[in-house]
Amino acid sequence: MTLSAGLWTLAALVALPNVLGAGLDTCALASQHFGNDAPWYIARIPFFESSDAAITEVYYYRWKIFRAHQRDLGTDGYISTEFIDDVSWQIYPSASLVDASGFHLLEGRWNRDRRFKEDYATFMYSDESNPRRFTETLATSIWQGYLVDGVVEDVLQYLDSMQTVYNAWDTDSYDTSKGLYWIEPLLDATEYTIASIDASCGEDGFLQGYAFRPSINSYQYANARAIANLATLKGGLDSVVEDYTSRAETLKSLVQIWLWNSTLEHFIDRHESNTACVSYWEPIRGRELVGYVPWTHDLPDDNATFAQSWKHLVDTSELLGEHGMRTNEPSYEYYMRQYRYAEEDGAQQPECQWNGPVWPFQTTQVLTALGNLLDHYPESASTEVVSRVDYTSLLKLYANLHYNPTRNNALNLEEDYYPDTGAPIVGLDRSSHYFHSGYIDLVLSGLVGIRPRSDDVLEVNPLVSTDVAYFRAENVLYHGNDVAIQWDVDGSHYGVQGLQIELNGVVAASSPSLARLTVDAPRKYPPEFPKPVAKSIQLQDLNQYPEGPAYPLGSVSLADQDSAKVQDAIDGRVFFFPETDYTIAHGWQTPVGDGSELWYMVDFGAQTETRSAEIAFFENADQGVDGPVDYRVQVDVDGNGAWEDAAGAFYGDVVGNGITYAEWGAVSVRRIRLVFTPKEGLKVRLVEWKVFDEVISSSDLTERCSSLGK
Ligand SMILES: *[C@@H]1O[C@H](CO)[C@@H](O)[C@H](O)[C@H]1NC(C)=O
Ligand SMILES: *[C@@H]1O[C@H](CO)[C@@H](O)[C@H](O)[C@H]1NC(C)=O
Repeated sequence: MTLSAGLWTLAALVALPNVLGAGLDTCALASQHFGNDAPWYIARIPFFESSDAAITEVYYYRWKIFRAHQRDLGTDGYISTEFIDDVSWQIYPSASLVDASGFHLLEGRWNRDRRFKEDYATFMYSDESNPRRFTETLATSIWQGYLVDGVVEDVLQYLDSMQTVYNAWDTDSYDTSKGLYWIEPLLDATEYTIASIDASCGEDGFLQGYAFRPSINSYQYANARAIANLATLKGGLDSVVEDYTSRAETLKSLVQIWLWNSTLEHFIDRHESNTACVSYWEPIRGRELVGYVPWTHDLPDDNATFAQSWKHLVDTSELLGEHGMRTNEPSYEYYMRQYRYAEEDGAQQPECQWNGPVWPFQTTQVLTALGNLLDHYPESASTEVVSRVDYTSLLKLYANLHYNPTRNNALNLEEDYYPDTGAPIVGLDRSSHYFHSGYIDLVLSGLVGIRPRSDDVLEVNPLVSTDVAYFRAENVLYHGNDVAIQWDVDGSHYGVQGLQIELNGVVAASSPSLARLTVDAPRKYPPEFPKPVAKSIQLQDLNQYPEGPAYPLGSVSLADQDSAKVQDAIDGRVFFFPETDYTIAHGWQTPVGDGSELWYMVDFGAQTETRSAEIAFFENADQGVDGPVDYRVQVDVDGNGAWEDAAGAFYGDVVGNGITYAEWGAVSVRRIRLVFTPKEGLKVRLVEWKVFDEVISSSDLTERCSSLGK
């Protein structure tokens, strides 16, 4: 394939000649893990390998989850979604849900392309979203994103919104007599906790059960700290710094006094409601995994009292199940009792509950908490209740959960799991490839041990146990510097024994054993990626939301097509997971090809500049779906039906499960259509087609890799 020189903007901007010469064969790894979709990843993600096959394979799967959940909103840029398709409780039409945003931002902070977290943060604080649909960690997660990229201009713009949202919690979820926040477990995204089940006298627990929880109080503690940090960074805001520092300090002290339960040796909820079975301020009657969330946000003091809590995490009769960490303990009266079901395809499927199941969501919080404990709680860590061995083994347990026993052990993460079997519980169509957790951040900031800082220092403290014989992470962008971290227990894998840090292609620090290393990393402005804006996006399923904007409007050449499926092909979602069947997969699927030409048309509703397209075709032999024989783009300049082929067009080869790229001479049109012929006997699934008014950088892997020096 030959492409014009103009296509090389991206490659030129992200070229990494110093780093990419050595180390991992990133282009081969990208092909191996992402197939034809590799070009999206190659310049954006840090690459990683380790002697543990599952930890490594799941790392790449998690980047697929990240990519699949990037929803292109058009002019509003990208946000991350929690569910692979629309659910009834999301914010319409974007599908944003703030309970998952903290995880999305912490995964996204390792993406070299900053737009995935910056567009997202901007959107979440906009009027089109609802940053308080659930409890949230937006401010602290945005701050932690800044610690990786170091770009002050990006982060300061959120300071006012952060304070507005913070103070809104004070108006409806704060008990002034106690100085603590309370929440309904459902709005903490954790329905059926001990608090809500017991408040209902064991009858239910979906709603109510208001409680002073370690979660919301730790979130507010961390959000206050983030606001104070940002105000310090901005300067001239001493009163804001003092105000939020003092709110954080007070909250910390009250959590330690009132939510620490010395009998259970754990941070636990206190009830906020009075019902027939519970009373205000009474402590709940058991340990829950949420009791570690204070460490997720560095709240507790570092001492031997609080360290005792961690014994209960690794005790298999308490919080540790065979396949993961239980959300509460088997000794609880209503442990694993199933209360709620959803009907799908005529079957009753168990719904989400927090009375025992293993949740990737809270598993991520606890591993982050453990990482913090081991990294910078010297007194607690010295009690040796838990160690690096636990961090690595719990991470492995979590990695294994991604192999789904009810889907032929394919990589497919769902909502929650049976602690004793590792099988998923909910199993609805919506459950596939669920994104309400983190993993990439646990690998890079935990196992590999990059501890992001606000000063110009790179600090690395791997939490790996020595049974992981080697690992290497590279293409990590830290404060604009290219970083690689390598560990080799005996030198047999990389030819260099020990731990080393490479900064911009040069070995900057090393140690024969696992140790904390720091190097000076003067801040640079990170490379910019282009930010093309898709003109064709329609977020609203116009069947369900007929009041939505009529344009851009998708339509097809065949009659009697499901209009929701037609809209799917311009809804801003791109993924190619083979096990999502057509009911949930995105895109419009044609009937079996009979040699005739079909089209998919976008009516913009107004004259719109066009110049290029990214076309996502699904391909799967078992499902009889393949790319078309050929395709072309036609334009109807005035909308009067005078269709003509786009002039000066270049059509890239059709690629299945990746991006097919086309461009043509700039033209302003009212309507545009993609004309194609399905192969005889095979269907075409058009996952997405995006129209742009500018030329997009090449999506050809070979060319992109060669431009990166590979
Ligand atoms: C801790 O919680 C348990 C269970 O609710 C309760 O019985 C006990 O009194 C609490 N301990 C303290 C010191 O408050
Ligand atoms: C740990 O800190 C808490 C809160 O500051 C305090 O009450 C407790 O006595 C401390 N424990 C030890 C062993 O110092």
